[in-house]
Amino acid sequence: MKAKPKIVSIVGARPQFIKLAPLSKAFSGRFHHAIVHTGQHYDDNMSQTFFRQLHLPRPSTNLSISGGRHGAMTGRMLAATEKVLLADRPDFVVVYGDTNSTMAGALAAAKLSIPVGHVEAGMRSFVDDMPEEINRRLTDHLARLHFCPTEVSMKNLRAEGIKNGLIHSGDLMYELLHDSKSIIRANRKPLRQFGLTPGEFLLITAHRAGNVDSPENLKRLVELLEALPIPTLFPVHPRTRKRFVQAKLLKRLRNQDNLILCEPLSYLDTLTCAMQARAVLTDSGGLQKEALFLGTPVLTLRDETEWVETLRRGNKLVGLDTGRVLRALRRKRAVRPMPYLIRRKRPSRLIADAVRRFLDGR
Ligand code: UD1
Repeated sequence: MKAKPKIVSIVGARPQFIKLAPLSKAFSGRFHHAIVHTGQHYDDNMSQTFFRQLHLPRPSTNLSISGGRHGAMTGRMLAATEKVLLADRPDFVVVYGDTNSTMAGALAAAKLSIPVGHVEAGMRSFVDDMPEEINRRLTDHLARLHFCPTEVSMKNLRAEGIKNGLIHSGDLMYELLHDSKSIIRANRKPLRQFGLTPGEFLLITAHRAGNVDSPENLKRLVELLEALPIPTLFPVHPRTRKRFVQAKLLKRLRNQDNLILCEPLSYLDTLTCAMQARAVLTDSGGLQKEALFLGTPVLTLRDETEWVETLRRGNKLVGLDTGRVLRALRRKRAVRPMPYLIRRKRPSRLIADAVRRFLDGR
């Protein structure tokens, strides 16, 4: 294989920019690395803010594809990514997580016989019709290298007959958080901005289709928001904002005493709030882990989680059940650190080494 192989990372959504940050550092110098942004997330505070704050290189291409139904969005991404890959002819493609951008990128590359590596391979919720579960399963079956963050994710792949190219890499999100911890700790901005006292507020996020797209569940979310006993900061994801507007619920929430609604926060501000909050309530996969890494108990607003290890370490599944949430908040929850999510080497280094070995062996 040539001295500096060409790698393309395909990203499009907020959590992918976070995972890309440590990996793009590990790739630089060793590979020609280009970033293709599908455009799935396009608001400044969902996209560019992350590139700026995490010092990510500018994408070489932005496909500007977002919105619409899943099939249409994924189809447009597939066609546009294929064009870019045909022009660039990379030696390897990396996709991240479980979004429509992940699956479209993996499929476009695989159809062109370009090997694919999947970051966060093997994660499963075992909810077959969850959009992310569909994307994960298909991506894992297209990828040649599987960068598994946990032991359980390795087992999940083996159970599906995927036995080759499994790399227990540890968690890139943990690596970035570990490197950013002193900045997160010293950051006073968000608490000052929202008038919050450390340990005396809750941080809540909710954007899963299952939680906000059904009017019934949206109503349950609103009832939960109205019952929270202490000041609560709620950075509202665009999907959720749209649903609140459609259901004419935004005004009602704005008038809620304990509730502070705000725009999506930057990476560092989110984590400072997660670190200083009494508890984090979320349906995000990433924030579940990040809060625990920072020592804050988590209530997951779902009935299942892909990150099953977190359940023994301070994460509790509560669905959108106000009673369960309130009972859980009254109980003091111990948080135990999760050392197994990082191994001897940095995840980014393990992944970069594995890609190099794979390409050298061809
Ligand atoms: C997507 C991922 C989800 C991930 C989440 C992180 C899929 C299937 N889901 O969900 O796994 O946890 O990203 O945030 O890929 N919108 C804006 N501005 C933006 C981005 C989106 O207004 O910057 C709007 C879109 O136009 C759309 C809605 O928000 O109407 C939802 O966006 P979409 O990309 O479909 O999925 P997410 O809910 O963000």
